[in-house]
Order: sequence, then structure tokens, then C-alpha cells
Amino acid sequence: MLGVCYYPEHWPEERWAKDARRMRKMGISHVRIGEFAWSRLELERDCFDFAWLDRAMDTLANAGLKIVLGTPTATPPKWLVDAHPDILPYDEHGQVRGFGSRRHSTFSSRTWWRESARIVEKVSQRYGHHPGLVGWQTDNEYGCHDTTMSWGEEDRKAFAEWLRRRYQGIDQLNAAWGNVFWSMELRSFEDVALPCRTVTEPNPAARHDFWRFHSDQIADFDRMQCDILRKNSPGRWITHNFMGFISDFDHFKVGDNLDLASWDSYPIGFVEKFPFSEVERNRWAETSHPDIAAYHHDLYRSVGRGRFWVMEQQPGPVNWAKWNPVPKPGMVRLWTWEALAHGAEVVSYFRWRQADFAQEQHHAGLNLPGSDELSVGGREAAETARELADVGTLPDSRKTPVALVFDYPTHWATSIQPQGADFRYEELSFRWYEAIRRLGLDVDFVRPGGNLRGYKLVLVPCMMQVDEASLRALQDADGLVMLGPRSGSRDRHFRIPSGLPPGPLSALTGTRVTQVASLRPGLQDKVTGALSGAAIRWREYVEAATEMLAHFDNGDPALTRKENVFSLHCWPDETLLADMMHMLVQEAKLETVSLPAHVRLRRRGDLIFAFNYGPDSWSVPEGIRLILGSSEVAAQDLAIWRA
Ligand code: GLA
Ligand code: GLA
Repeated sequence: MLGVCYYPEHWPEERWAKDARRMRKMGISHVRIGEFAWSRLELERDCFDFAWLDRAMDTLANAGLKIVLGTPTATPPKWLVDAHPDILPYDEHGQVRGFGSRRHSTFSSRTWWRESARIVEKVSQRYGHHPGLVGWQTDNEYGCHDTTMSWGEEDRKAFAEWLRRRYQGIDQLNAAWGNVFWSMELRSFEDVALPCRTVTEPNPAARHDFWRFHSDQIADFDRMQCDILRKNSPGRWITHNFMGFISDFDHFKVGDNLDLASWDSYPIGFVEKFPFSEVERNRWAETSHPDIAAYHHDLYRSVGRGRFWVMEQQPGPVNWAKWNPVPKPGMVRLWTWEALAHGAEVVSYFRWRQADFAQEQHHAGLNLPGSDELSVGGREAAETARELADVGTLPDSRKTPVALVFDYPTHWATSIQPQGADFRYEELSFRWYEAIRRLGLDVDFVRPGGNLRGYKLVLVPCMMQVDEASLRALQDADGLVMLGPRSGSRDRHFRIPSGLPPGPLSALTGTRVTQVASLRPGLQDKVTGALSGAAIRWREYVEAATEMLAHFDNGDPALTRKENVFSLHCWPDETLLADMMHMLVQEAKLETVSLPAHVRLRRRGDLIFAFNYGPDSWSVPEGIRLILGSSEVAAQDLAIWRA
């Protein structure tokens, strides 16, 4: 169940066999290679050198390793960029993003598609039937380094084409976007401009379509690669390695192309990326926050329709966050077990050996820089492999009692039109997840429109645009449904729905939103009634033709209920959020455990795992028989028992 990312092209060939032997010896079964090796595979246009990769694949396979091969399209080589500068991406200010690192291409360029198809064809023809090959990874981390969108002439042209297909006529486009506003009307699709570098903000409908367009392009580009791989490499699965807290494109749509999802888990790096308070950042600096990895495991289990890997697991300090502490002893082992508890099929460390050259010199590996000596993370990985062998095959994950509906277009819509500087959808979604996990409950992520039947509780932190499928899924939910602020507040064309928000949801909620307020830091609106706490950041003014469970100071509804559907009309502070989850789990008659901030539970089949992020120890419930660990779980340690 363990893997590692390996770069044979980084090390002299004499070292490969020993590396492979040592991997096997420490309990590693899978190795991912090749995803950045284009310049070594095609030295000049049509001048291929596969001999070295043939030998590397054979060496790894002969040692008993199962190989995952990456397509090398994250790294177009210099000769290609020089011959076809139209593949280069542009930033929002119109500056070209050039050669010299990676991901220097735009998904809008037809040349780029042709060239990508060509290399994927070549590589998969060569290795599609290799006996050591078990699966493929398409590209590497779509969207990494802010590369989902590009803002050049190629992008403008492709966007105009996308709009033409979608709207058919320019009148329809003008009407949908409301271009009569500020005389923005266009005469033809040739008039379409990039929604950037305008004097004041561009039309949000245009920006939202631009975002959708880029998201669609990634899904299409990925499907193009998958089609070639399936043709040339039957019987092998395909994945892509997604990232943490990157919601720039619709991962569910890319997931539809794949056999399984995977993601790159850098729990400590993400502490700097997520908008935590400084107090929280310091608290979790060396362990990560106990919900960061879990949140993504649950998201990607859903993206992979039940199947996921961790393709890159942080093995020690990384190099790319603002600050990069060394993880506390035990964390690499804990993160590995935690991924498996959430249903990961394989946890693969990035990387085998720390590089003593180039951009990632400060990024740990399982071995010290350039050497054959295991790092702290390497020793913990080996220990985990031994424990895994003792524990044996893990049972399958089961459906959880709680569903959380995650919606990528809502991230785009709220980013385009935050209305209050701190309305951040990903943050809201994470905080709801954290609050329910504090009660010891497991969570499945569900895509909008996905089946919600069988869940005792469905959380929808926010869903701006509610299409027919999403509405039907919510109507069909047989458990309690909790809708958060701004739900149903825009239609497909970024208009306020006729009849006012929550638009299509109003029959379910029995409410009508007449005004919204964003609250600057420091301001809050007290909430009392069935819940207490306060609204921060966002509050709605609501007319309710239904039961009001909690209200703001002026008596307006803060929490309403109609049959099984609850609506919260604000961004809840910590107290209100915790209170809300308590109320919901009681109503849903869910069995809960109140966990301290540093402990989380997770069930996989009949096994229960407890993870302690420290610094205090935690006692497991009495009367259980442990499979791993001790009844007093120390900081950075875990325990497993049978339910
Ligand atoms: C200015 C402009 C108006 C409108 C308002 C919005 O006053 O003249 O067109 O944009 O701001 O507050
Ligand atoms: C990403 C990339 C890897 C590497 C790591 C470093 O996950 O996929 O190539 O750069 O980050 O943490």
C-alpha cells in the first residue's frame, strides 16, 4: 500500500538497481516515474531516446515494483517552446510566462493540444504493454502555480469559440450577460475580449464564463490524454494527481475521465496556504491541522468515485510554503495511516531521494540529499510498512452518515463577487467539515447533483447556482439538509433569480432573501433562540414563511426550518457553528463523540482509527481491544481498534 515518486533521470544509472532493491526492502510496492522527463525522451523534435527509460522500467519491474508512468506534459522542452511560442501562457497583466520552470503552456493553444497528443501517443505506444506498468498519471497537478487560466490572444480566441458554441448568437450572449449595462454590448463573437485589464471590474457573468471555459478545457485536455492512453495501454488504470485547496477547475469533471483519483498531500505546507489565524498557524505549524489531510482524502474519494491514492505524500519539510518547518516526529507515519483510514489504496511519498540540485533542494525525500541514507521520514515510512504488514488487508470504506456537497463553480462565483473581502467558500466549507468532524463523524463529499439518499445529514455550506440536477438531489435527500448562506443566489447566467434568492430552493426553504450585508472584521450580529453565537462576515435579511428557530437581535430569522431542510442565513462564528452541528446531529439522532481539537476518528469498514495531532495525549474509549497502539494515545501517535 506504499509507493514512492522516483526520478531515474536525476541519478546515474548505476544507482537504479540499488534504489529499487532498497525500495522493495523497506516495503514499497509502487513507484511513479517519468512525469517531467520530456527533454530526455525527445531531445529534438522527432528525435526520441527511449533506451534509458526502457532500462529504468526494466530495472524497477525486475525488482518487483509496480510502475505508474506520468505523461510528461507538465514540462514542454525548450525546442518546443522555441518552435511554437503560441503554447506559452500569459498572466492577467498580459505578461508572458516563459520557459525555465514548468507548466509553461496554455490549454487554449491548439498547437499545445497537438504536441501533447503527439508525446502521449509516443510514450504510451512504447510502454503501454510493459509488464511492470500498472497505471498512468495524466500530466502533473493541473492548475499548479496558478496555471488553470491564461490571459493571452490564444485564450481570447478559444474563449470566443467556446462562447459561440454555447450561446449560438451574439444577441443571446449580450442578453445573458446583461451587456446593455455600461454599453458593453458586442457586435459579434470577434468582439469578445478577455475579462481583465478593464478600468474597473469586468462583468461577473463574463468572468464566470471565462472560468468555466478554462475548467472545461482542462477536463477536455485530460480526456484527450485518457483516450490515447486507453487505446495504447489496455488494462491499465488512469489517474491524475490533484492538489490541496486548489479549486480553480472542476475536479469532478476531470475525475469522470479517470479510473481513480489521486492527490498530493502536503499537510504542513497547506497550513500556510489556508486562511488560518496566526494563532492557529503557530499551533499546527509542525503537525498540520487535523482536518487538512482528511478533508482532501474525503474530497478525492468522491472525485475518484470511491477510489483514490495519495500520489505524493509529504515526507519531511517542503520548500515552497512561506515557512517550512520540520514535521514533528511521528507525523509522516500518522499522515500515512490517516490516508489509509480514509480509504486510500496507496500512499506514495514524494520523493525517494532529496535532490541536491535545482529548485527543490530544500524538499525532503525518504533519503537524505543525494544519498542512500534514510531520512526521518524514510524511517517512519519503513516503520509504517512493517505495521501494515502486521495489520494485514484493510477493509473497504463504508458510506458515511454525513454528506458535504462541494461545488467548484461556487468557489469561482464567490471569488469573482465576494461582496465582503473575507467571503471565502473553501474556508466556509472547511470550517463546516471541521465542526462536524469534531463530533467524531465521518464525511463523504458529494458533487452537486450527486445522490444524497441514505445520508442522515447533508451539509451544503453554500451553493450559489442550483441547477436542476442539484435541486432534484436535494429534494430527494431523505435525511436532514442544512443549507448555508448565498445558496441559490445566482442563476446560470450570474443573474439574481427572479423571485429573489434562494431562487429554485425557495420551495424547499420557505424563505426569500431581500438584502445581504457583509460585516467587516470586528462586527457581528448576535444570534439567539435554538442556537446561540453570532453572525460574522455575512448576514442575510430574510422573509420566512416557515418555522424560525433562531433570530438576529432585531428579530429577523437567522435559522429557519421547513420539514427536513434547515437554512442558516449568515456566516457563523465558531460558537454558532458548533452549536448548529450539535443541534443537527441530535435531530438526526447520530451517535457522536465530542473530540478535543487535536484528535480525530475515522472508520474504515469495521476498523476505527484515532489520530492524535498533539500536544496532549488522549485515552481511547474503555473496553475496546486495540489492534495497533496503546490505550493512552501519545501526541503524534495513533490507535486502531475493531468496532
Ligand atoms: C457611481 C457611478 C454609478 C454607480 C455608482 C455605484 O456613483 O456614477 O454609475 O456605479 O457609483 O455606487
Ligand atoms: C508538487 C509536484 C511535485 C513537487 C512537489 C513538491 O506536488 O507535483 O513535482 O514539486 O509539489 O512539494
